[in-house]
Amino acid sequence: MKKECDFLVIGSGIAGLSYALKAAEHGRVVIVTKREISESATNYAQGGIASVFSEEDTFEAHVQDTMTAGAGICHEDVVQMVVEHGPKVIRELIDWGVRFSTAGDSYDLTREGGHSQRRILHADDVTGREIERALVVAVRENPNIEILEHHIAIDLITEAKISRRRVMPNRCLGAHVLDIDGNRIRTVTAKITLLATGGAGKVYLYTCNPDVATGDGVAMAYRAGATIANMEFMQFHPTTLYHPHAKSFLVSEAVRGEGAILRRRDGTAFMEKYHHLKDLAPRDIVARAIDNEMKVYGDDCAYLDITHKDPDFVRTRFPNIYQTCMEYGLDMTKEPLPVVPAAHYLCGGVAVDLNGETDIRNLFAIGEVAFTGLHGANRLASNSLLEAAVYAGRAFDLSVTRLATETFPTPEIPEWDAGTATDSDEMVVVSQNWDEIRRFMWNYVGIVRSDKRLQRAMSRIHLIQQEIEEYYWNFIVTSDLVELRNIATVAELIVACALTRKESRGLHYNMDHPQRDDIHWKKDTFVRIGSTPMEVVV
Ligand code: SIN
Repeated sequence: MKKECDFLVIGSGIAGLSYALKAAEHGRVVIVTKREISESATNYAQGGIASVFSEEDTFEAHVQDTMTAGAGICHEDVVQMVVEHGPKVIRELIDWGVRFSTAGDSYDLTREGGHSQRRILHADDVTGREIERALVVAVRENPNIEILEHHIAIDLITEAKISRRRVMPNRCLGAHVLDIDGNRIRTVTAKITLLATGGAGKVYLYTCNPDVATGDGVAMAYRAGATIANMEFMQFHPTTLYHPHAKSFLVSEAVRGEGAILRRRDGTAFMEKYHHLKDLAPRDIVARAIDNEMKVYGDDCAYLDITHKDPDFVRTRFPNIYQTCMEYGLDMTKEPLPVVPAAHYLCGGVAVDLNGETDIRNLFAIGEVAFTGLHGANRLASNSLLEAAVYAGRAFDLSVTRLATETFPTPEIPEWDAGTATDSDEMVVVSQNWDEIRRFMWNYVGIVRSDKRLQRAMSRIHLIQQEIEEYYWNFIVTSDLVELRNIATVAELIVACALTRKESRGLHYNMDHPQRDDIHWKKDTFVRIGSTPMEVVV
């Protein structure tokens, strides 16, 4: 079953929806999304969107804070560009109907780790939900946009793939997409394809990401031949709620931005030992500090204490966090919250240029799926919604130029061939492998790594990969199988990059190479398909 459009957008967070709204002025847009349209990481973002909005703040200061957090490998041209476009894209979001919190007659600006100024616009403590709400309303009202909910992209279609030869430059022609409820595979062809699939937190056992974050875009782009970069830099958020039923509920860094203090079980504040910015140190440092305190003192968690603040202020400023914690029997105005780190944000991804284009022509990647060079070895808090919104505009500008100036090939694209695949009788293979990957990634490729742990992880991935490939070709494709195949690929990419980097920098900490080594490693890691085992170039 075929479907044609001008722009195929895969993913429905801030990146995909803001691009779609712009693109719809110039052609037919199809949005493919795995669940309901608003089920994206954007929807769960609490903190906010960083931008220079106050008299005291400057672009230079925002650039500097981003570069400092990024531990020496941010791309300065990218940082400058993103920071300077900040105020413009925020006004665009406001025009689309986003309502940011105000204080008097200006926007209320909060603070998070690593920021030298108050510069984070927010909507209470549910900023992402507010952005998603406004964009979904606008997208649903747009007659040029078709939304395919409960559809998952399986693989990209490229010229090289259909002609089974090397093509230079290779071009993207669309994607094969599984209609999950209808149980059929559709061929969606497009002049421009945009990956906006978000991150890959589900590769880890503990994550505050939603279930959809299975690294689909990175895995598809890798299989299609695009360059992938810096996958060793997975950011662990320091403070997710430690409670058996809370499923790693995020307690925003803005809580520390408003004065909360991290303590041990016995009440001792500990961040002073680790960084002069104490509880507002960059996130990699805070996550490692908590991990270390838990190991040294044998505690199951750390405690986030904001009980010294006026309870009315806490309830008004953090209504969602307050309410959710109350549902778990925890009153944050009266007692410190038990917290642990969890996988949060992938700083690496599909390598793109300043316009968000990958090295496959007409394939763009924006948002968490992309590696732009903005975050370096550690993302500064609340820079990600900003990056997604800025790159939506950049990718849109180039896409429209392409549409106006390029002739698009219309090769015969074969429909998906299921061959002799049959229904699986052993779904346990999928759940077993899924569970195993997430567990060894947490234990061996987590906050603190070693060469031996990484090698162990790699040998397990290879065994699992073999099993998945056999399974994939013999049985009818399901969304669980597509996601499992993707998390296995992403896990392998993370381990391959982590094994290559023989130093510790930002989010990548290896006990066997504990120092930062600017002489040999002040650079990115890149991976391209073609070599087994995966070969990383730097
Ligand atoms: C948070 O609210 O702590 C998350 C903000 C971010 O990750 O940028």
